[in-house]
Amino acid sequence: MNILAVILVISTLSGHATGELLHTDCLDVYNTGFTESGVFSIQPPWSDSSFNVFCNMSDGGGWTVFQRRIDGSVNFTVNWEGYKEGFGQLEHEFWLGNEKLYRLTNHGEYQLRIDLVSSEGKPYYAKYDFFRINNESDYYRLSGLGEYNGNAVSGIDPDKAGLRPHLNQTFKAYDLDDNSFPVRYCAKVFEGAWWFNAYCGNTNLNSLYPEYIFWNHLPGEVFTTNNISFTQMSIKPRVDPSNNKT
Ligand SMILES: *[C@@H]1O[C@H](CO)[C@@H](O)[C@H](O)[C@H]1NC(C)=O
Ligand SMILES: *[C@@H]1O[C@H](CO)[C@@H](O)[C@H](O)[C@H]1NC(C)=O
Ligand SMILES: *[C@@H]1O[C@H](CO)[C@@H](O)[C@H](O)[C@H]1NC(C)=O
Ligand SMILES: *[C@@H]1O[C@H](CO)[C@@H](O)[C@H](O)[C@H]1NC(C)=O
Ligand SMILES: *[C@@H]1O[C@H](CO)[C@@H](O)[C@H](O)[C@H]1NC(C)=O
Repeated sequence: MNILAVILVISTLSGHATGELLHTDCLDVYNTGFTESGVFSIQPPWSDSSFNVFCNMSDGGGWTVFQRRIDGSVNFTVNWEGYKEGFGQLEHEFWLGNEKLYRLTNHGEYQLRIDLVSSEGKPYYAKYDFFRINNESDYYRLSGLGEYNGNAVSGIDPDKAGLRPHLNQTFKAYDLDDNSFPVRYCAKVFEGAWWFNAYCGNTNLNSLYPEYIFWNHLPGEVFTTNNISFTQMSIKPRVDPSNNKT
């Protein structure tokens, strides 16, 4: 095998890996010319190692996906450590991991996009023009959530629905939550971890699929047991460094 062949083999094995340059996130991948959705290796500036992510290149491209539910085949009743490190399969159902999400959302300013498909097969989306979580010392608190935009909330002020009521809540898994929260009830009852508030909350996309996945107030659906069939959560820089617009 000559040197060229070795290089070819290595670049084939590494799949989407794009040479020595490590990408910050999926927008960086997109701006390098990869416009097809798929799995890529990235390394955010705040991270000391690279990891794989699923990049969704629709809606302008460059969305780093951190959650997906499709069919309930992955068990989301996972403990604190599992949610911290991430679990599932990037091309299927998964949670990317709170530590990675912390590192991504803190080295710059990110926006959030949530996609939902209702039990009737209708697609909805919610965008928040800012999204950030704190580090593990603060239980990955949902520390920043910007202005809402989308079609996933009806019949109520969007500032009282969707993810908003969870702003400033710490993340809670069945085996761990902050001591200010009296019970681990929500994670246990809904069989998934989330930024639960005192009422457990208006929204939880990590709970048992599909009956406990809920989003308040999806058009035409009742408050709980939305029976949502598809969820996707993704982030993208608020400002595209390549052209100074989002
Ligand atoms: C990408 O995201 C869109 C919503 O923005 C979703 O409908 C689509 O299924 C996703 N594509 C892939 C390949 O996951
Ligand atoms: C999911 O995992 C939890 C925690 O390990 C376990 O108690 C539960 O039985 C599992 N659910 C299924 C459907 O396997
Ligand atoms: C939930 O949605 C599935 C299809 O995704 C449907 O078969 C089932 O009847 C729905 N259940 C309820 C309670 O709406
Ligand atoms: C977590 O973040 C807080 C506030 O930003 C900082 O004071 C603390 O040192 C950080 N902890 C770790 C372990 O990085
Ligand atoms: C967020 O929660 C912390 C800890 O409970 C509290 O100190 C802080 O005032 C809260 N911030 C907002 C904006 O509610």
